[in-house]
Amino acid sequence: MTIAWREAMSVGDETIDADHRHLVDMINVFEAAVVGKIDHKRVARVLLGLVEYTGAHFKREEEIQVLIRYPYHDSHRHGHRDVLKQLTGIAQQYTQATGTARDEMIRGLGGFLREWLVDHIIQSDLRMKPYVLKYQAETQDAKKRQRAAVALSEQIAGVGH
Ligand SMILES: [Fe+2]
Repeated sequence: MTIAWREAMSVGDETIDADHRHLVDMINVFEAAVVGKIDHKRVARVLLGLVEYTGAHFKREEEIQVLIRYPYHDSHRHGHRDVLKQLTGIAQQYTQATGTARDEMIRGLGGFLREWLVDHIIQSDLRMKPYVLKYQAETQDAKKRQRAAVALSEQIAGVGH
């Protein structure tokens, strides 16, 4: 079962949304790789790629949270650490597993990843949306004020001509 990106998943920030879309794609690639005859080397590559991308995404998300002054950024960061540790552990376990243990492991993995991602976005990241929107409104206001000040000073400078 593939996941589809929905507008309801948007946290209002382009960078974070693009990352989440990419994570959705990666999990879909993972799911496609574990049907039929499984190429374990390919699955391991996809899994390790997912871990790496998740780490980079968390970093970007944390930086944005600091920028927008998200009040829960600290606990969010701790949550990221736990998830990343868990994902890294799973990827390592998978690459070390062989035979039936590996086959069994793979069976539950797609569902786990899907649940994790939806949980991450829906339960956790969407909470920052009001703060993202507030920050965007504030920066737009500041830009408007700046443009008005420039226009006024140009007007004043132009008076003598
Ligand atoms: Fe996220």
